[in-house]
This record gives sequence, structure tokens and C-alpha cells, in this order.
Amino acid sequence: MPISPEIRAAIARGSWIRKMFEEGARLKEERGEERVFDFSLGNPYGAPPDDLSARILTLAEAPPADLHRYMPNAGFPDVRREVARSLAAMTGLPFSADHVIMTSGAAGALNVALRALLSPGDEVVLVAPYFAEYFFYVRNASGVPVVAESAPTFRLDPEAVGKALSARTKAILLNTPNNPTGAVYSREELIALDRLLEDRERATGSPVYVLSDEPYRKIVYPGFSFYPPAAAVRNTLVAYSHSKDFNVPGERIGYLAVSPRAADAGDVTEGCVFCNRVLGFVNAPSLLQRAVAGVQDLAPEFPVYRTNRDTLVAALAEAGFDVVPPGGAFYLFPRAPGADEMEFVEAAREEGILVVPGRGFGREGHFRIAFCVSPETVTASLPAWKRLGATFFPGSGSRIPR
Ligand SMILES: Cc1ncc(COP(=O)(O)O)c(C=O)c1O
Repeated sequence: MPISPEIRAAIARGSWIRKMFEEGARLKEERGEERVFDFSLGNPYGAPPDDLSARILTLAEAPPADLHRYMPNAGFPDVRREVARSLAAMTGLPFSADHVIMTSGAAGALNVALRALLSPGDEVVLVAPYFAEYFFYVRNASGVPVVAESAPTFRLDPEAVGKALSARTKAILLNTPNNPTGAVYSREELIALDRLLEDRERATGSPVYVLSDEPYRKIVYPGFSFYPPAAAVRNTLVAYSHSKDFNVPGERIGYLAVSPRAADAGDVTEGCVFCNRVLGFVNAPSLLQRAVAGVQDLAPEFPVYRTNRDTLVAALAEAGFDVVPPGGAFYLFPRAPGADEMEFVEAAREEGILVVPGRGFGREGHFRIAFCVSPETVTASLPAWKRLGATFFPGSGSRIPR
């Protein structure tokens, strides 16, 4: 067997989303595009903002002399200054260019941070349900993932996180707004976490870093607001990405920012810059760095996600499903009816609906709907959701969403 047994096992364990996506392509061939409702993949819906496209065009037509050359591994200094300015305005913290590393998306940022922080065997706490890739990112850095459960309705449970800490804990991976649940953590929850980590640091003398993965922070629904973890938790590293706010996941542009308040911030940043280089990213794509620098404060609106969210939450509740309305991002994570979520996922597939089983996110008994699709797809799927409800909740009335 040429590849490592660990990678072989990871492929088997971690391919739910891709499996469902590929199943979608097959089903579309078989039944026709309009009879398949593919809610499997978090691929953002819609075109990039006009301002960003215009900047890309200008850069391509009249490139600055240094555009296509090697650069500092952390990225262009003027781009990092602009990111720092925008982060400082959001958090009230004195971020400077020296705290910012441009990365290949949030995935690049997280891998860089974990590689820089972890020694083999160090532990990283994941809050379940979690973005499935976290598990593998931690393993990339020879770390050990340790799972803490969230509180009911997927709230952050600082006490559960506290219980998951050990002498080997180096970091906690937080994701707000959350994939797959849509939970947006409150200021109070984050402050409670900070208190706990401060107490622990005083007792042990070693900090635990919070890696705050925030690619959905601009996608928040009425009645909810994003509170930056860096504003509440002292030892924070911010991982951001323009994959979801600007609809450019293929372009691989994001950043990692070490909070100026974090323990040994300079040292941590230096380690991250080095890891950006030796993990093979070298630097983030240069044209996109320059393009996003001018639009850091852009606040796109997401009317399609809002419509899809409201339509699906109402329709699923009406059909009998137990679903927590998401505060942000573009996912629903309802409870799967029946004893085995795979049975439900299979029944949904028979109806032409593709969703991802909760076990792919560390939480069985649920399934994920990615509603970053056209409103027409959502509307066309409604009769199928109704039939699923009638099959799995015979005789039940509608439920009021929480
Ligand atoms: C929670 C979360 N973190 C990180 C990523 C990776 O994003 P990027 O495309 O910026 O690497 C995703 C992508 O879906 C995500 O949902």
C-alpha cells in the first residue's frame, strides 16, 4: 500500500461531503438537473462583488511592477496594513501589519497556525459539531483532536471546553458563525471562555490559544450579530477568508492575524510566517492580495441566503423536523428522524435531496443542509421535504422553530 495507513483511514472517514456531491452529479445525469436538490456542498452562491471584479480587471490590465514576483512570505506589507486597519476597527485592538499574514484561505491560515503552535502529541479542542476538516488539519500538525460537546441549540459551552483541557492542550478551534450549525457565539459565552483560559494560564504558566475561524462573520441574519472572539479572548489568532463573503473560494485568499494581546504575539507570528513558507504555500496569491486590500470594509448583503434560510426553516418545521434557526453562515443542522441518520439521508436521496450525515461533523443523529443554492432550487425542493415529513412524522402537527 503506497500511501500511509493514516491517510487511507482519513480518506475513508472524511469524504462524506464529497461523496454526497459526487452522488449529486450522478443523480443529475440519471434524473435530470431539475429533479435533484443538491444541498451537499458549501460552495457560495452568486458572483463576486462588482468592486472586487473591477479591481481584478484593473490589476490584470495594468499590473504593478512587483505583482507577479516573490514577496515577503507574510504577504505585501501595504495589503497587511490595510487588513490590520480593518481588523483594528472591528475589534478595537491595535492590530498592525506585523500581526497579519496573508494566507491561502482559512484552510491555509489554520494549517499554518496549527503547524506553528503544536509539538507532536499536543492536544487541540474541537467543539462538536465541527467543520469536518479540522480533524485532519490537527493531524497535519501531529496534534491530537479532543472533542468538547456544545450546549443545547449548539451554544458554546465554556464548561465543557474547560473539562476537555489537559496538560497537553495547546489550542481550541472555535468557529463562529458555525459550520454546520449556524450558531453565532455571544459576547458572554466568549468572555466566560476567556476567564476560564486566564485562570488556567495563571495556574499552569502556559497559554492556550483560541484559533478563531471566522469565514462566515459577514453572513449574519437579522436579530443576530457577530462578536469578534479576539475582542473577548486574549490569546486569539484570527483565521479569515474571502471564500464566503466575496464568493471566491477557488481563488484561495484569506489571512491569519495574531492578536496584539496574545501571549508572545511576535514569536507566534514569526513561527506562522515560517510555516506559511515551508508548508509550501510560500505566500498567498499575489493578484488576489492586491485585489482584496481595497475592499476590506465591503459589507455585501446576502438576500438569497436570507430567503433560503427563512423558507427552509419554516418548511422543515411545518413538516415536523426539529431545526434550530441559524444565526449566520448558510447551513441548517436539523435532527435526523429515526434511529439511524443514514436511513434518513438515503430516504432524502430517493426524493432527490442531497444532504450530508451529521457523523461527518462529529454529531450523529443530525444532517446538514447547505442552502447556498438558488431560491428556485429551494422552492422546487419543498414538496419533497413535505413528503419526507409525512413519512417520518406521520400524524405530527407542525413545530414552532426555537
Ligand atoms: C468553518 C470553515 N472553516 C474553513 C473553511 C475553509 O475555507 P477556505 O476556502 O477559506 O479555505 C470552510 C470552508 O467551507 C469552513 O466552512
